Amino acid sequence: MARELKQQSLTIPILLGRFKTCRMQTEKICAPLQVEDYVPQPIAEVSPPKWHLAHSTWFFEQFLLIPFSGSYAVYDEDFAFLFNSYYNNAGDRVLRPNRGLMSRPPVSEVMAYRKYVTDAVLALLENGDASKEILEILELGINHEQQHQELLVYDIKYILGNQPTFPKYGDDFTTKAETKEAGWVEVTEGIKQIGFSGDEFSYDNELGRHRVFLEPYSISKILVTNQEYMEFIASGGYKDFNLWHSDGWDYISKNEIKAPLYWHKVKGEWQNYTFNGLQAINPDLPVQHVSFYEAFAFAEWKGMRLPTEFEWEVAADQFSWGQLWEWTASAYLPYPGFKKAPGALGEYNGKFMVNQQVLRGASVATAKDHSRKTYRNFFAPPSQWIFSGIRLAQSL
Ligand code: AVJ
Ligand code: FE
Repeated sequence: MARELKQQSLTIPILLGRFKTCRMQTEKICAPLQVEDYVPQPIAEVSPPKWHLAHSTWFFEQFLLIPFSGSYAVYDEDFAFLFNSYYNNAGDRVLRPNRGLMSRPPVSEVMAYRKYVTDAVLALLENGDASKEILEILELGINHEQQHQELLVYDIKYILGNQPTFPKYGDDFTTKAETKEAGWVEVTEGIKQIGFSGDEFSYDNELGRHRVFLEPYSISKILVTNQEYMEFIASGGYKDFNLWHSDGWDYISKNEIKAPLYWHKVKGEWQNYTFNGLQAINPDLPVQHVSFYEAFAFAEWKGMRLPTEFEWEVAADQFSWGQLWEWTASAYLPYPGFKKAPGALGEYNGKFMVNQQVLRGASVATAKDHSRKTYRNFFAPPSQWIFSGIRLAQSL
């Protein structure tokens, strides 16, 4: 596998420390769950927690241990079929919507699989023959598992938040009212540098630092709040087709969407499911669980717009971010000179560069050491179950 290697900036002990922390953190996220919570897949997008635990483990087995550890014995030959997500180069797999049908292997065995693979990775690195390529794949595997930690949080919320009893998860991964004052960052026109540069880890989709020309704009210092969003709903925002994209209007009409995900009208008042159970909407919190369609329609209603991903990146040092991913006006496209890795790992990001929208920032569910201002997250426009919010922009 000839991959282009960049300078490895982390030493083996630092990387191994991160690996152990990462493996433990994934299991800690699941600790409040009951065993039955690990299995359901209520919608195709939401994977069972058990599947995330196993898939993030399979990634290390498939891409690190099998190619690079001569002494490694595969834990179970069936697991590649069960826990491969979308890597056509790594063979056939259970179709995505069927992940929730797997009552086997049980959670206890997935946990044993995790330990087996964790120990094998530690043994591989402690043997001392760690090439640059091994370190690079280990680092990718850690970042991959961190992405699944965040997806786990989304998916746990969806599983619990759709129980008739609205069970609590706990105090982690909840947002707070922004303390910064409202206002606008103004940016003058000009040629700006976009994309990642440096020796540290980044995904391939951030690379290819390049110039873009931006017209003058302003971007809000704070996110749109629940209060503002309730005003949008109350003024008929979901009934005015003029505010919506054609696809968005079709989608909300067909699916009868009248509010963000987890919002319920109870005796005339809006409530929402939070990790602390069903609660009255807190008007001061940033609005969460909106789709790109909703973010766009809200901006239209305000007479404003969403920032492009470039406008966001250029101004990011001048506002605080990191509670919710922020929908941008940008389609997820390759940067100039984008090169995907050969083989299976080339399927990681590049093949999704159609029909997806870029989100910038990070969320309260994003792993520590996993955010930077060049990070390009992406989801399909209807996605509401992700931890998404709205920041507005205006042309000057
Ligand atoms: C970048 C969050 C869209 O959900 O598939 C997980 C992350 N990539 N495994 C996704 C990812 C491979 C990815 N997102
Ligand atoms: Fe994955």
